[in-house]
Amino acid sequence: MPRFRLTPPTVVFLLLLQGVAVVLLFGWYVQVLPCGSPPSQGKVHVLLLSSWRSGSSFLGQVFSQHPSVFYLMEPSWHVWTTLQMPGARALRMAVRDLMRSVFQCDMSVMDAYTPAQHNMSALFMWSHSRALCSPPACQLTPRHLFSNETECKRKCDRPGLQGAEEACRTYSHVVLKEVRFFELDSLYPLLQDPTLDLRIIHLVRDPRAVARSREQSAKALVKDNALVLEQGNTKVDDTQYRVMQEICRSHIRIHERAMLKPPDFLRGRYKMVRYEDMVRDPLTEIDSMYQFVGLEMTQSLQEWIYKVTHGKGKGTKKEAFQITSRNAADVSQAWRTTLPHDKVRNIQEVCKGAMSLLGYRTVDSEKEQKKLDVDLLTPRERYHFSWLPSKTDNTNNE
Ligand SMILES: *[C@@H]1O[C@H](CO)[C@@H](O)[C@H](O)[C@H]1NC(C)=O
Ligand SMILES: *[C@@H]1O[C@H](CO)[C@@H](O)[C@H](O)[C@H]1NC(C)=O
Repeated sequence: MPRFRLTPPTVVFLLLLQGVAVVLLFGWYVQVLPCGSPPSQGKVHVLLLSSWRSGSSFLGQVFSQHPSVFYLMEPSWHVWTTLQMPGARALRMAVRDLMRSVFQCDMSVMDAYTPAQHNMSALFMWSHSRALCSPPACQLTPRHLFSNETECKRKCDRPGLQGAEEACRTYSHVVLKEVRFFELDSLYPLLQDPTLDLRIIHLVRDPRAVARSREQSAKALVKDNALVLEQGNTKVDDTQYRVMQEICRSHIRIHERAMLKPPDFLRGRYKMVRYEDMVRDPLTEIDSMYQFVGLEMTQSLQEWIYKVTHGKGKGTKKEAFQITSRNAADVSQAWRTTLPHDKVRNIQEVCKGAMSLLGYRTVDSEKEQKKLDVDLLTPRERYHFSWLPSKTDNTNNE
């Protein structure tokens, strides 16, 4: 048997070698970890990013009713209604940090924005979240069934947010819907946070349809308008479409940021969806959104989606903030017969860039506007783009 003599330099060398090996192995280990699983514990975090009156409540329900989803609607409403600030720009970091906490199921962040002894009902539109009406938050609705808001409100309120926190931890997907976000840059820290696996679904809608819908709910929007226009605690009627202009600009800003030279950490994490495509072919569009975030479509979800998008009528004023069964494809065209042409022209003027980028054709005359067989949607293939990760592919190290 050969014998080695360990001289001090040999020992030092061996120790160094061992150190290097440990460092290399650790680096390798970190790289080959199934990306996304340990740090974010396999959880996927989804931000439904949209603006007022763009069908985002419906999209929110599409996720909220999924049995694997913990959903909250507009947590940033609390920030906007509590903090005194001149506008959206100053509020966005507080909004971002609140979203990060909620994504991580830490609801204590809400303490800053709710009364001292609050119930679950202190959360904005809490009963829209199926997860807050299901175990473990509440025994009312089994997870695989569809929740009833009225019933939930009556039976599921309880003191504190522990129930919400506990529920949040049991889901594979945490989905937040926000309309109070106008750029992507302030979200970079969330996209780079190893404890989050964030996907962004950017929902846009024809600005002319948005404008019509905004007119119908004008009163409810005056405070938000002021913050969009950086005018603090005033009330702003948007008769000049300045808010529309800001919203259109923000769509351009967001879309261009994600599509033209996106930073690496944004790849595979952004998908733009046009409301009109979604209502024309709900099952296909929703299925592709589910795939994008790794959710399974189920038979009962398919039936539910069909039912809520194929009701009757265009929705009354009272229904403006509710999800009811109406013919969604009709609703998306309603502006063409009800909005005066001069208004249409004004909106087209302030939103020209966004309309062209997102694939909405302008109309040149009242006749063209009212001729419903003229399709104003540019075929979606050209615009249907996302850095879509394939199903088995992992996006974290792209
Ligand atoms: C929800 O429940 C209420 C009363 O419990 C009922 O009147 C209503 O029709 C239900 N809504 C749906 C959509 O089932
Ligand atoms: C909080 O919920 C309890 C039921 O758990 C209810 O009795 C109480 O009235 C609620 N408080 C508020 C302020 O809504």
